[in-house]
Amino acid sequence: MKYLKKHFQLGKLILPSNIFCAPLAGCSDLPFRRMTSKYRPGLIYCEMVKMDALVRCDPKTIRFLDFEPDMHPIGAQLCGSKPQYAAPCAKIVEDLGFDVVDLNCGCPVDKVTKDGSGSGLLKNPERIGEIISNMVSAVKIPVTVKIRVGWDEKSINCEEVTRIAEEAGAVAICIHGRTRAQAYRGPAVWDHIRRCKEVARTIKVVGNGDVLNGESAERIFAETGCDAVLVARGTMGQPWVTEDIYRHLSGLDPLVRTPLDYRDAFLEHLEHIASYHLAERKAVVDLRRVGCWYLKKGKGVRNLRETLNRSNTVAEVRTLIEEFPWHETEFSAPIIHEECETC
Ligand SMILES: Cc1cc2nc3c(=O)[nH]c(=O)nc-3n(C[C@H](O)[C@H](O)[C@H](O)COP(=O)(O)O)c2cc1C
Repeated sequence: MKYLKKHFQLGKLILPSNIFCAPLAGCSDLPFRRMTSKYRPGLIYCEMVKMDALVRCDPKTIRFLDFEPDMHPIGAQLCGSKPQYAAPCAKIVEDLGFDVVDLNCGCPVDKVTKDGSGSGLLKNPERIGEIISNMVSAVKIPVTVKIRVGWDEKSINCEEVTRIAEEAGAVAICIHGRTRAQAYRGPAVWDHIRRCKEVARTIKVVGNGDVLNGESAERIFAETGCDAVLVARGTMGQPWVTEDIYRHLSGLDPLVRTPLDYRDAFLEHLEHIASYHLAERKAVVDLRRVGCWYLKKGKGVRNLRETLNRSNTVAEVRTLIEEFPWHETEFSAPIIHEECETC
């Protein structure tokens, strides 16, 4: 219980725990969040949305922000580099009913960083302060920020950004322990998170990077002193991971997740995808990606995975899952989904 907080304060908001689910572009959509929110994370973020599109109330962008009443507490994440859009976008998010609004300073993708957005903002820390200030002045909900530790190994500036974010009024800073240059390669360096925690006075520090289960969550708390953890790739194909972490930090016995639990979760996720995407093609493409997560840890699932990747209808995928002999498989310890071909 040393690290777990059952009432975690974020500004005026009290969250049910300090174990959060990360924003995941192209993944943490409404069906995904239906799966993870069942396990009561402290906070769940939607995938990032571009400020330039949100400010125009672009319908596709608004749809990324779909959520349901039982997904609270929920955060939206803004991605952009124009300070003048920060206040109106934060207000849109607040008016939509979100509990938290976050600024993305971590996305490494060239087409995002080329206009100075995402991790591009790390090259311009004052701009981060300006954007956060504008967000804070526009809304009553807490403002958070998510960063990488720096642009590259030579320009690590997460401590400076922590101070700037705190001054600008952010209540929490989530630090992904990799540089932009690292993308997702190599282990996250948690020592940078520890150093940010040391300079933080009022701002809460959220540790992120390679937290996959109870043991790694306990380690990041112990090694960095962080106030909360954010799980990203560990939520893919194991929507219950925040519950596993919660139990571990509470000293409770782990719940054994059997192959039938994976089957049931995959089937449930399938039904959410099928009801959310009216276009069958889109649903099938998503199912292949999601299936890859659920099957990744399984032994003896190769044929199922290959057949799944050739399926053309939701009904075909459903039958494949239902008819597969799950009791003949074994599922191993959590893994990171980085080399997965379809995701
Ligand atoms: C497919 C994918 C999409 C992501 N999308 C976002 C995003 O929209 N916003 C964000 O701040 N981080 C995003 N991230 C980064 C994660 O939130 C997280 O910081 C990173 O994966 C490290 O955590 P992990 O080691 O637990 O996966 C994404 C990561 C992945 C793999």
